Amino acid sequence: MKKAVYPGSFDPMTLGHLDVIKRASKMFDELIVSVLNNKEKSPLFSVEERVNIIKEATKDLPNVQVDSFSGLLINYAASRDIHVAVRGLRAVTDFEYELQLAQTNRQLSNEALDTVFLTTSLEYAYLSSSGVKEIAYFGGDVSPCVPDFVAKLIYEKYHRKA
Ligand code: PNS
Repeated sequence: MKKAVYPGSFDPMTLGHLDVIKRASKMFDELIVSVLNNKEKSPLFSVEERVNIIKEATKDLPNVQVDSFSGLLINYAASRDIHVAVRGLRAVTDFEYELQLAQTNRQLSNEALDTVFLTTSLEYAYLSSSGVKEIAYFGGDVSPCVPDFVAKLIYEKYHRKA
């Protein structure tokens, strides 16, 4: 049984993330998308909201599970007997950070956790969660960036906050 974890902040999940999820779900028997519960950040969506968004967006992908984790990814992966992490690479600017993360995880886990990279589809290469939030904050159109139901949830957040 080939299992993998796709970890991230997903605040919120974009179409770029969803593209990686769909493609990775074809490569593994089970893909667990896991949202980092990072209490120090002040996210737009709570961990529970982010998990629910990903669940809704992946409801037609039977081998995709959605979960959350706190602490080190290597410990979470070990607790679920997972040895592969999936990450998306958009551009060379992602590379240095991703390389460091992958190497740290491999080293820290005594080579128990390896990372597989998927290059983001070109139409989503410009997307980032922080960019999406900024577009929405300033009243721009985020519909090309996230599923429609997510766009509605983002606007609701900013209306309440404005
Ligand atoms: O979507 P992001 O914010 O780029 O995801 C980053 C994430 C969640 C993959 C990374 O920050 C992470 O795994 N954090 C958990 C703590 C950890 O294991 N750090 C690795 C050692 S630097």
